[in-house]
Amino acid sequence: MSDDLLIATGLEVTYGGGPSLLGKLPGVKVLHGIDLSIGRGETVGIVGESGSGKTTLGRALLRLVDVSAGEIRFDGEDITRLPDRTMRPLRRRMQMIFQDPMASLNPRHTIGRILTEPLFLHGLARDRQDAKKQAGEMLERVRLPASVLDRNPHELSGGQRQRIGIARAALLKPDFVLADEIVSGLDVSTQAQALNLLKELSRDMGLSMAFISHDLSVIRAICDRVYVMQFGRIIEHGSCEQVFSAPKSDYTKLLLDAIPLPEPDPGWLERGSATAA
Ligand SMILES: Nc1ncnc2c1ncn2[C@@H]1O[C@H](COP(=O)(O)OP(=O)(O)OP(=O)(O)O)[C@@H](O)[C@H]1O
Ligand SMILES: [Mg+2]
Repeated sequence: MSDDLLIATGLEVTYGGGPSLLGKLPGVKVLHGIDLSIGRGETVGIVGESGSGKTTLGRALLRLVDVSAGEIRFDGEDITRLPDRTMRPLRRRMQMIFQDPMASLNPRHTIGRILTEPLFLHGLARDRQDAKKQAGEMLERVRLPASVLDRNPHELSGGQRQRIGIARAALLKPDFVLADEIVSGLDVSTQAQALNLLKELSRDMGLSMAFISHDLSVIRAICDRVYVMQFGRIIEHGSCEQVFSAPKSDYTKLLLDAIPLPEPDPGWLERGSATAA
C-alpha cells in the first residue's frame, strides 16, 4: 500500500458548459492538470492568490465538484467517477471544516444536536447516551466546557464556534480533513489556538489534512509541505522549509513578500497560544 492517502493526477475542473438550447457550451476550465499527493498523517498546504483555484481543488478532492479530466485516488481506490451511492460510505472518512462556522452550523440547533446528529447518521453511536458521551469527550479535547452542549451557535464566540466545527469533523474519525481558510476571520491569538488544536488532533488521530490559506505564515505554522497555485496550476511545491527559505518561482517570492512580518517567524504559533491561554 502506498504511503499516500490521497493522490490527484492531471486533475482538471471546468465550470459551466454542457448542453444548452444553443448547442454545447464550452465552459471555463479553472484547474489545469493538477498533480498533488497527501501522505498518511501529513498536512499539506495549498496557497495562492484569490481566484487561483484553491477551493475548487479542495472540493474536487472531496468529489464535491465534478472532475472533467484526470484521476483522484483515495486510500488506493479510484474515486474519480464513483456514483454518489458508492461515495457515501467514503464521505465519513473525508471531512471538511468550513471557513465560516456560523454559516455551516444550524442556528436553530443546540451544539449538542449539531455534534451528535452526524454520529447517528453514520452509525457511530449506539444510543443517545453514547453519542452524548462521545460529544462530551470531544469537547474536552477541543477545550470547551460541557455546558456549551445546551447552547446555540450564536451564543458562542467566533473562536469557540470554529472549535465546534473542528470537533464535529473530528468526531467522525475521518482519515482526511479539508480546511479551507478556516482561520482567516479570527484574530492572531485565536488563530494560533485553532491551529494548535488542529495540529494536536491530526497528530493524535493520524489525520491527513489539506490546509488552504492565502496566508503563508499560517501555512508555515501547520504544514509539512506546500503547493503554490496560480491561474489553476501548481507552480511550485516542496517542503515548507524548502519553499519558504528558497522559493523557486517569482510568484512565490511575491507571496512571501506580501507577509506582513518582515521575516516569516516560525515561532509565532507557540508564543501566540501561550499568551492567549
Ligand atoms: N461555481 C462556480 N462557477 C463558475 N466559476 C467558478 C465557480 N466557483 C469558482 N469559480 C471560478 O473558478 C476560479 C477559481 O475559484 P476558486 O474559488 O477555486 O479560487 P480560490 O483560490 O479558492 O479563491 P479565494 O482565495 O478567493 O477563495 C475563479 O476564477 C472563480 O471565479
Ligand atoms: Mg477559496
